[in-house]
Amino acid sequence: MKICMVGSGYVGLVSGACFAETGNDVVCADINEEKIASLKDGKVPIYEPGLEAMIAKNVEANRLGFTSDVANAIADAQVVFVAVGTPPRADGGADLRAVDKVAEMVAEHAASEVVLVLKSTVPVGTNARVRRITAESAHRIHVVSNPEFLKEGDAISDFMTPDRIVVGADDDDAFARDVMKRLYHPVTLHQDRIIWMGPASAELTKYVANTMLAMRISFMNEVASLCEKVGADAHDVRRGVGTDKRIGAKFLYAGPGYGGSCFPKDIKALVYVAQEQGLELELASATDRVNARQKGVLARKLKRNHFVDDLRGKRICIWGLAFKPRTDDVREGPALQLIEVLLAEGAEVRAHDPEAMENVRAIYQDRVALFDDAYEAARDADALVLVTEWRQYQNPDFSRLKQLMNRPLLLDGRNIWSGYGLREQGFTYDGIGVIGS
Ligand SMILES: NC(=O)c1ccc[n+]([C@@H]2O[C@H](COP(=O)([O-])OP(=O)(O)OC[C@H]3O[C@@H](n4cnc5c(N)ncnc54)[C@H](O)[C@@H]3O)[C@@H](O)[C@H]2O)c1
Repeated sequence: MKICMVGSGYVGLVSGACFAETGNDVVCADINEEKIASLKDGKVPIYEPGLEAMIAKNVEANRLGFTSDVANAIADAQVVFVAVGTPPRADGGADLRAVDKVAEMVAEHAASEVVLVLKSTVPVGTNARVRRITAESAHRIHVVSNPEFLKEGDAISDFMTPDRIVVGADDDDAFARDVMKRLYHPVTLHQDRIIWMGPASAELTKYVANTMLAMRISFMNEVASLCEKVGADAHDVRRGVGTDKRIGAKFLYAGPGYGGSCFPKDIKALVYVAQEQGLELELASATDRVNARQKGVLARKLKRNHFVDDLRGKRICIWGLAFKPRTDDVREGPALQLIEVLLAEGAEVRAHDPEAMENVRAIYQDRVALFDDAYEAARDADALVLVTEWRQYQNPDFSRLKQLMNRPLLLDGRNIWSGYGLREQGFTYDGIGVIGS
């Protein structure tokens, strides 16, 4: 099938590459000309494991191309996916200007009957709004909602072996349903994973899933704070709770608060949509509030527990800048929040990350010293703060760190070093709700 993927970011590039991999003819379009030029040059502007190789293979096979001529790419397609950003507005609602723009372009440039698939995360009612925008087109535009559930860091396997594919389409739209079935056939061969529903339910499903996951994180972060007060250990509580099959073990890890481009904005947008309907989603609002507080936990711990409220001139090393491992995405990450406070308080910030340093350099230039070698970043540091649990940080050479650091203080934002006997080795160890050793 001829697919135009509008928006070539984390979602658009992965989805585009995977659809090409399964035999479709895909063009990824984007208004960011620099991004398209770099893709045409063979350079993938984001880090996602396996993506570069998959893109190269499908470009070579002539199944995948890139263009900044969005109108032309739309005119040539049977299926147009919308994978543009839907960032938060100041009032918490989702900014849908890019989605509207693409809908207008489809209305104007579609050259035949097309299926327009909303893959971006969009609030309930957007499908209906896009139908209104495209109603004037000379051709029939079938509007389908197909929210994306891939996780950065595992995006390709999530796309190729999804838990489920949610499709919101009209019951009587056999044309659109057939196109969606055929598109996802290769990844649903073993098991039918498509869950059909109405567009509004599909739109809501995405927000509810993200809010549910975020809620678990925020609750465990509150539990971790309680653990610290009462001498309990958040690791043990997590294991004790997560082995209950009704609860399950995932998303129960205490840490420095959730970040990324999705959870923070999606929870706010769900609360906003409910408020528009006169409903207060109190659990969702509290999840967001708890997270906002939690994102300050590392800076608070440094100040209150270890530096008597004075970070001026202290050399703080951060390991991990991406909002989670296996991505270069730093958007809304706890590392950025920590950096902000440290710089404002007059501390010297040094950092290392295997993939995300360029994105941090673009924000802070030389105000944050970035090192290709994680140990060099820790040289003469007054504290080492672990923010992202990349595998390579799991079992570092602690005796080397001890020698390198000015003060042997480890603030473990992901609790990956608790139980390593670090106090015996002469370190001060602090985690998030764990006793540690
Ligand atoms: N990143 C994730 O893990 C993830 C997962 C599931 C869903 N989503 C959702 O998918 C959507 C895209 O997210 P992302 O992380 O890929 O965003 P992104 O910022 O990485 O990419 C969006 C791209 O859209 C392009 N764009 C903006 N306006 C455009 C227009 N009018 N025409 C063509 N291109 C345009 C931008 O230049 C950018 O390259 C969002 O709604 C997001 O919430 C993201």
